[in-house]
Amino acid sequence: MPEVRQVGIVGGGFMGSGIAESVARAGIRVRVYEPDTAPLQRSRERISASVDRAVSGGKLEAPDGEALKGRIAWTSDLADLAEADLVIEAVVEDLGVKRKVFEQLDATVKPGALLASNTSSIPIAELAASTGRPEQVLGLHFFSPVPVMKLVEIVVALQTSDDAVGRAEAFAEALGKTPVRAGDRSGFIVNALLVPYLIAAIRMYEEGFATREAIDEGMRLGCAHPMGPLTLSDFVGLDVVAAVGDSLYEEFRRPEYAPPPLLRRMVSAGRLGRKTGEGFYEY
Ligand code: 3HC
Repeated sequence: MPEVRQVGIVGGGFMGSGIAESVARAGIRVRVYEPDTAPLQRSRERISASVDRAVSGGKLEAPDGEALKGRIAWTSDLADLAEADLVIEAVVEDLGVKRKVFEQLDATVKPGALLASNTSSIPIAELAASTGRPEQVLGLHFFSPVPVMKLVEIVVALQTSDDAVGRAEAFAEALGKTPVRAGDRSGFIVNALLVPYLIAAIRMYEEGFATREAIDEGMRLGCAHPMGPLTLSDFVGLDVVAAVGDSLYEEFRRPEYAPPPLLRRMVSAGRLGRKTGEGFYEY
């Protein structure tokens, strides 16, 4: 079972950059691809800030932080990912866009390499089917903030081979994370449990039953969650919460998954949470 020594990441946003940081931290070389230079620059700054935070928080020695940064390269040429043993896609949650990425990766990346998606809502079987190597396609679902969160869901599609699953699990462990296997249905394990809870909190707030602070304090102090559900929704991104809710509703047709009107209006208004400076709270 060949080891993963070189990783490519498609998409240098919040998740893609966090994954790149975690991979480089494990001593593995990684290249982040974005077609345009401005997002690449933002990815570089994001990773730099996160590494500096790890250093100032005593999680990482300063020279190790520099070495970590030295293992990451940023490119706007997809061909630079050709020699990767594993490529992880972390682009927008849109089936058409992701399918296109998988077609391009299949044509570019060396045979035998694993192609993974960090999707939280799109069936892996659909992405696998847009490649000529469906048995080497799977989901690698990371949690935010990636450098801190210890879980990776390994999403096994109908087509995924046992060998691919074994390589992916070994990779997750090499990152110091714990892999759990999940089937290829909407929400996998964690989001199928988390998102209806977030949606229930949004509904409670929308109904005027309690203030945002009361809801968040309730779960933070009453259940020892690190963040209350409205703060967590802002943190994850309200567009992502709505997309996962839609995907769960589409799959299971149960009302608890349906995004409530307030969530939809906030997404339409561009109030996506922390990343746009405003969500349930102002940042
Ligand atoms: N590398 C390593 N460690 C780092 C780091 C980095 N780049 N950046 C920060 N840290 C460490 C800090 O040193 C600190 O460690 P300590 O607790 O031992 O001192 C710890 O991480 C927390 O950092 P901060 O003190 O700066 O911040 P907080 O204490 O406010 O914690 C939080 C922030 C970790 C985000 C915490 O609030 C939390 O766990 N929130 C819940 C997150 C969550 O539920 N995520 C899952 C979202 S769902 C998802 O992602 C799925 C998607 O598909 C929707």
